[in-house]
Amino acid sequence: MKRAPIIAKIATACSILCTGNTALSAENANNAGLPEVVSYYEHVRPIFQGKCHGCHQPARSKGEYVMTDVAQLIAGGESDMPVVVAHEPTESYLLDMVTVQPGDDRPEMPEKDEPLTPYELKLVTAWIDQGAIDDTPENARQRFSKDNPPQYAVAPVITSLDFSPDGALLAVAGFHEVLLHHADGSGLVARLIGLSERIESARFSPDGKRLAVAGGLPGRMGEIQIWDVGKQSLILSKPVGYDTAYGARWSPDGKYVSYGLPDNTVRAIDAETGEQSLFMGGHNDWVLDTAWSVKGDHLVSVGRDMSAKLTRVETERLIDNITSITPGALKGGLNAIDRHPLRCRTIF
Ligand code: HEC
Repeated sequence: MKRAPIIAKIATACSILCTGNTALSAENANNAGLPEVVSYYEHVRPIFQGKCHGCHQPARSKGEYVMTDVAQLIAGGESDMPVVVAHEPTESYLLDMVTVQPGDDRPEMPEKDEPLTPYELKLVTAWIDQGAIDDTPENARQRFSKDNPPQYAVAPVITSLDFSPDGALLAVAGFHEVLLHHADGSGLVARLIGLSERIESARFSPDGKRLAVAGGLPGRMGEIQIWDVGKQSLILSKPVGYDTAYGARWSPDGKYVSYGLPDNTVRAIDAETGEQSLFMGGHNDWVLDTAWSVKGDHLVSVGRDMSAKLTRVETERLIDNITSITPGALKGGLNAIDRHPLRCRTIF
């Protein structure tokens, strides 16, 4: 991989020296670093996953446009015209949406997010140019939505449970969904089906109006979902990293949601905008759960490195380990943590 730019430079220099054809050399430079065959699954999907799927998926399809399935990505949404025309990048409306148009100072999409980088644009353009082929492996297709809910042959492993603060509802993590039950056992209220197949944690907000879900597609993406419990609708789907997210918790004021990732980091996002508000990289292994102090000014995180760490929220700085220092006292990692709802000792 590292050699590619050098080879490209040699090729460019050679074409100038050998043919004097500067147009050709410009084209070579333009495609420098691009794979010869651009794969949807390997190259294009991660771009859309990171920057588009949050607003263009079955549970949240802005402009009635779903991009998590290639046939729908090509077909388009409310505009009723094909968004991608195979072999015809210039006819493909999608590319107009992600490039700056005359009179504008930024591309229209992704709304409220960083535009695609020049390299990402080249990849998407080349994928369309090469025929917009869908090479998604069968087992990685997004199959489930409200209209096509998961079916259970046997009861799934339940990774997380939470009561709503008023005790009326129980959220149960399932496969690809969180099931909301009446807590008195009288039946199911709703199935909240999102992109993540593995749900690791579901938590009601302090006022019970929203539900934060941490999960992902193992080895492919992490995701934090925020649902409106009353409307049973997905308010936010934030892609976070490239592996499952764990341990979602609300700050006491309901503004932020913290979580842990297998990249050894503890993070928090603004629950309205999805913007990252905290990042602490001091763990040595996967971070599996988080807990806020009563006042919301400190965060404790635990993980597979057998430590519980205290972070000051305002500075995003690790203060110290709060785990026992007795060597070998803890084996097998720390999976979960919770704090007393009211008691506030020293820093807690
Ligand atoms: C924060 C939400 C948000 C994100 C992220 C986002 N979009 Fe959109 N998108 C919208 C909304 C809202 C509309 C409908 C209104 C409009 O056209 O502006 C839309 C419409 C579109 C349409 C028009 C579909 C049709 O048939 O009319 C395309 C194409 C599109 N988006 C592409 C993208 C791409 C590509 C990305 C990622 C690079 C992206 N969007 C990211 C919110 C978003």
